Amino acid sequence: MRVLCILANPKPVQESYSKRAGMEFIKEYQTQNPNHEVVVMDLYEKGQEHLSYEALYDAMNKRSGKMPDEATEFASFDKYIVAAPMWNLSVPSILKSYIDHIVAKGITFKYSSNGIPKGLLKNKKAIYIGSRGGAYPFPLSLIAWDERYVRFIFRFMGIKDFEKVIFQNTDKDPVKAKDKFPEFLNKVKNLSKSF
Ligand SMILES: Cc1cc2nc3c(=O)[nH]c(=O)nc-3n(C[C@H](O)[C@H](O)[C@H](O)COP(=O)(O)O)c2cc1C
Repeated sequence: MRVLCILANPKPVQESYSKRAGMEFIKEYQTQNPNHEVVVMDLYEKGQEHLSYEALYDAMNKRSGKMPDEATEFASFDKYIVAAPMWNLSVPSILKSYIDHIVAKGITFKYSSNGIPKGLLKNKKAIYIGSRGGAYPFPLSLIAWDERYVRFIFRFMGIKDFEKVIFQNTDKDPVKAKDKFPEFLNKVKNLSKSF
């Protein structure tokens, strides 16, 4: 079993709610599943680039380019953890840049004969671990595009088993957030046991 943990935050672990929760999730997962291979991909450390003309050209001309490589690598995992903060109602753009590389025709999705896209990734699962400065109960949830976007794009690639756990109100009430964070970490660790 191969597990990919994608971190999308420039902050050091100790200063980030989402990154810390993601790393705690992984720590607990490794304790529970010592034989599983876990790869942590910190997009900032990796220096994730925007999709370039060269990568697009390679992809369009079916040559082996950067875009297919990243997509193939992504497709080789069985489980995914995405840990990210909400930025301007969405995810940090570095995560979008990574997604632009992995949603690749012929690798993670295809068009069927009637032109309908079909996800090619089967029997995989994912969890989104997020943090938000505010809270987004319905109907505000409709404009919270962070987890929703990741969930839908993963579904587009065929990953339907998708959970979420989000720590909210970190900026609205920072003192309360600090107090409540250990409880959130316990919730995250428990989710890890059944992931
Ligand atoms: C550039 C930027 C944009 C943000 N935009 C939003 C936002 O649209 N909605 C929100 O609720 N919080 C927003 N926040 C607050 C963060 O989501 C919040 O501080 C979160 O807990 C940060 O997670 P972290 O500790 O993992 O970095 C923003 C923060 C930054 C730095």
